Amino acid sequence: MEGAPASLGLRETIMKDMQGAVRLAIAYVGLSGGLLQAMAGLSRADAAAVASAAHADEGYVVRWCDAAYAFGLLDEQSGGFVLTELGRAFLPDAPGTLMPFAVQEVLTAHIAERAAGLMKTGERPGESVLAERATILPWFGPMLEAQFGPVFEKTIMPAVPVYERTAGRGGFVIDLGCGNGWYLMRLARAYPGLRCLGIDGFDENVRQGQARAEAAGVADRVRFAKGDIYGFESPEPADIIALNRALHHVWDEKDTVFRILHDHLKPGGAAVIWEPHWPADRAALREPGRRMVAFQNLTEHVQGNHFLRPSEIADAFRAAGLVPEVYDFLEGREAVVVGTRP
Ligand SMILES: C[S@@+](CC[C@H](N)C(=O)[O-])C[C@H]1O[C@@H](n2cnc3c(N)ncnc32)[C@H](O)[C@@H]1O
Repeated sequence: MEGAPASLGLRETIMKDMQGAVRLAIAYVGLSGGLLQAMAGLSRADAAAVASAAHADEGYVVRWCDAAYAFGLLDEQSGGFVLTELGRAFLPDAPGTLMPFAVQEVLTAHIAERAAGLMKTGERPGESVLAERATILPWFGPMLEAQFGPVFEKTIMPAVPVYERTAGRGGFVIDLGCGNGWYLMRLARAYPGLRCLGIDGFDENVRQGQARAEAAGVADRVRFAKGDIYGFESPEPADIIALNRALHHVWDEKDTVFRILHDHLKPGGAAVIWEPHWPADRAALREPGRRMVAFQNLTEHVQGNHFLRPSEIADAFRAAGLVPEVYDFLEGREAVVVGTRP
């Protein structure tokens, strides 16, 4: 290599970034292997006890404990390991859990490797890339839920009047591309009169959704089924059809999708579409709160998709004969576009 070496400042910055990524990778291994969760149930444990509690291989756990200790997820106390405050913060049930960052990091590494390999041919393998890493798939739903569940409950649900209006008449809500079902579970909890149906193309998601409806004792009014959005047929006209981070997956056939939305809504019913707001101005992608979406759009490209502007969604509603309203959330980073059938 020609020229001066990277300055000390640059090298330190990148080394810190790299160590941050490795810390998240270690947290991911701990979560995925159930090691962090096992440690939470033990006051102090050596690697053998952690391995036994997590039903994991002791040889791997010994090395993981050393790495987790080095990166501050574990402390040592009287010859055993304990979770640090940081380690505890990655537990899936911790308030404001850091778990999504760990899952996102490993997913990012996977997609980066796939995109690097596909760059020359332009091939776009589709959604199957998410299922290529067996340990990531079960974490995909919980990651999205931890990222977006709280903002839905605290900010979006109270601000978009269609939910309250629908609940008042004991309505029927469909969630297309429902993931692990977190959205319907929150709606059903907030509005006991609602009946809900979640549809997703991944068996794993449908299984997770159905299991939680049963565990919460609401399976009589909240159910989940495997299905394809493109061929969706509703069992009855709906008051709300929601798509959360799902429309960009089916945008290539948007005319079909918006016709399905229109035809399965009751008059006065609404399609409620929540998408990240892809900014019109590239400079906005530099904002720390939006950067990730710029990389995620590469992830979407590998899957055959791209992120959308709210104005494109509003135009598609108009073309399908629905009346759009755009709501902005989180400083304009997230958009909910409601399309009401007259
Ligand atoms: C980014 S995830 C969002 C999941 C969920 N709505 C959430 O907000 O957590 C997109 C979801 O759409 C589903 N999906 C994409 N295309 C689909 C199709 N054609 N039919 C059914 N589900 C589909 C995927 O399986 C995935 O669960």
